[in-house]
Amino acid sequence: MKIAIGSDHGGFRLKEEIRGFLAEEMELAGVKPEVIDMGTFSEDSVDYPEFGVKVAKAVVDREADFGIVVCGTGIGISIAANKVPGIRAALCGDTFSARMAREHNDANVLALGARVTGPGLARDIVAAFFSSAFAGGRHARRVDMLRAIEGQGTQG
Ligand code: RB5
Repeated sequence: MKIAIGSDHGGFRLKEEIRGFLAEEMELAGVKPEVIDMGTFSEDSVDYPEFGVKVAKAVVDREADFGIVVCGTGIGISIAANKVPGIRAALCGDTFSARMAREHNDANVLALGARVTGPGLARDIVAAFFSSAFAGGRHARRVDMLRAIEGQGTQG
């Protein structure tokens, strides 16, 4: 499974930590990940929309199966990712939301706030997200409705 990961300066340190534990956590879930790091590569100030969109485009262009985006709160970078049609980015601060984001919303990007969520909890959230799968059924109809909104040009 290919995972694109990106952050701004506020999320840089947590991004580096996630890069470190991602393989370990995903192998526990029976998945061998290949991580594509789309930056940023230091704590120098950058603009989160650039990195949210880079990760989102990698997912919609199928260079990656999923994305992880990190900024200070996770808010700006998730908004940016969600502007790209086809992206369902979920900002998660707990493991229940991470599981639901996959099971109910078929989220294809996980967003984290590095100034909100510590590395230990972030690790559990990543594990919950990648060990859960879309449940389909009634949730598929709702995700189709999200796609229809994009088709009407009311998003992005
Ligand atoms: C950068 O200072 C900060 O605004 C950014 O990381 C993020 O929290 C925006 O939503």
